Amino acid sequence: MSSNNDNENPTVTTSQGYPIPSPFETQRVGEHGPLLLQDFNLIDSLAHFDRERIPERVVHAKGAGAFGEFEVTDDITDICGSAIFDTIGKKTRALVRFSTVGGESGSPDAARDPRGFAIKFYTEEGNLDWVYNNTPIFFLRDPIKFPHFIHTQKRNPQTHLKDPNMFWDYMTQNQEAIHQFMILFSDRGTPATFRHMHGFSGHTYKWSNKQGEWFYVQVHLLTDQGIKNFTNEEAGKIAGENPDHATEDLFNAIANKEYPSWTVYFQVMTEAQAKELPFSVFDLTKVWSHKDFPLRRFGKLTLNENPQNYFAEIEQVAFSPSHTVPYQEPSADPVLQSRLFSYPDTQRYRLGTNYAQIPVNCPYAKTFNPILRDGAMTVNGNYGAAPNYISTIENPVEYKTQSNFNYQSNQEKWQGPALPFHWKVEGDIDYVQARALYRDVLSKQPDQQKHLAHNISVHVANALPVIQDRVFEAFAKVDQQLSDDIKAEVLQLSPRSKDQSTQKL
Ligand code: HEM
Repeated sequence: MSSNNDNENPTVTTSQGYPIPSPFETQRVGEHGPLLLQDFNLIDSLAHFDRERIPERVVHAKGAGAFGEFEVTDDITDICGSAIFDTIGKKTRALVRFSTVGGESGSPDAARDPRGFAIKFYTEEGNLDWVYNNTPIFFLRDPIKFPHFIHTQKRNPQTHLKDPNMFWDYMTQNQEAIHQFMILFSDRGTPATFRHMHGFSGHTYKWSNKQGEWFYVQVHLLTDQGIKNFTNEEAGKIAGENPDHATEDLFNAIANKEYPSWTVYFQVMTEAQAKELPFSVFDLTKVWSHKDFPLRRFGKLTLNENPQNYFAEIEQVAFSPSHTVPYQEPSADPVLQSRLFSYPDTQRYRLGTNYAQIPVNCPYAKTFNPILRDGAMTVNGNYGAAPNYISTIENPVEYKTQSNFNYQSNQEKWQGPALPFHWKVEGDIDYVQARALYRDVLSKQPDQQKHLAHNISVHVANALPVIQDRVFEAFAKVDQQLSDDIKAEVLQLSPRSKDQSTQKL
């Protein structure tokens, strides 16, 4: 479509190409008389403007993105047979969108929140999406909790305000969330920019090689810019002064040719090793030990091109963990399995039935699927006269059999009755890694244990005393010192009268 933008002096036209010499004119009766319905330009302009907004993402609504490339630096064909990794030095075009999670499209980039780190690779075998976060774990392992959890992070249905009671009520009822809440309330919960943070698959995925062997893997993208975080107070200040600071930082860095990059690694585990873990390999609230499962480097992701049009290329991009390529598969992690459904479902609502035909979502790889036809906004030619079923009469297509994919012949074997299942674990296992984060990691970083207690306290101080007490109890299961520090600061910030300590929700 010609947009007239290439001309030195573009002519303004209606949407139908009618030239409008004076764009601010309206057709009316006499100088100050009523307007005319025949003024297509006015109606065209107002009607289009009235429809400019589409639903924002239900989560991760605020974000920024850029194009770039993924380069293979090390051979991993012993683990993964995907074409994107088949040759050292091979480069594949990519698009990355970074985001916060809970806020609306205009909310501050500096919010305390996980950051989304979603990547689309335009590979010769179709689009591969890695829809990751900047944290190696997540808040839950039962997918049906996701809408409940997200509601507690968003606005109260009556007050339309963020609500510390809902927020901490959720955490204190769901012990598997405590590890991620600790990451969130450390200074890692307020990264200084999108460039100064890592990305993690979080989930366990399954990769296989061309010999038919398969492996559990987790992917890590480690920032080459180094980690930089804000303190709670710095984040609050910048959120007020420049709510778009990270969006601006990313755009300016790329415009100034300071291209951000990430070195890409994976951890690998066999099925036998997974059976020896003290937790399930499908439990998204746990990390894999780096000592037992060392990082193996295989690539570099570099962002070197700003979008030309934010709405077309970033707002309309549709990522999904179900957009994958041969030799990379989801694992049985139930949260991942649910995500495979949820993303294309929300995109059919957010962008429309034919969201895959939007240029930024179109694979560069050649596609052909005779039954994906019609629907609102069919703009790709709709395969012309080709048959809309697998035809042997007209234009027969030679269908490749699955054998060229050489998928694992040796998959996990599942069996058992179909039962409702709420994933609860016995004993202390949900606290072990949270405790290690506090005692072994944060203790080695200056002031980080204190910052964690402080960042939690200033938030919890706004909750009801009965909720505050539950928070003290929850963190005591991680470490008594952490709980004591939180309690001391909370009670200082929100002193209690006697009757308040027995207040019920
Ligand atoms: C049951 C669990 C989850 C559900 C149901 C869910 C659902 C969603 C939905 C509906 C969106 C909006 C997508 C769009 O409008 O295009 C979204 C965005 C996103 N989610 Fe999730 N999510 C879940 C868990 C996770 C996890 C565990 C991660 C990371 C490991 C994650 C990372 C992201 C990212 C990065 C985005 C933003 C993608 C973009 O930039 O367009 N989500 N999620």
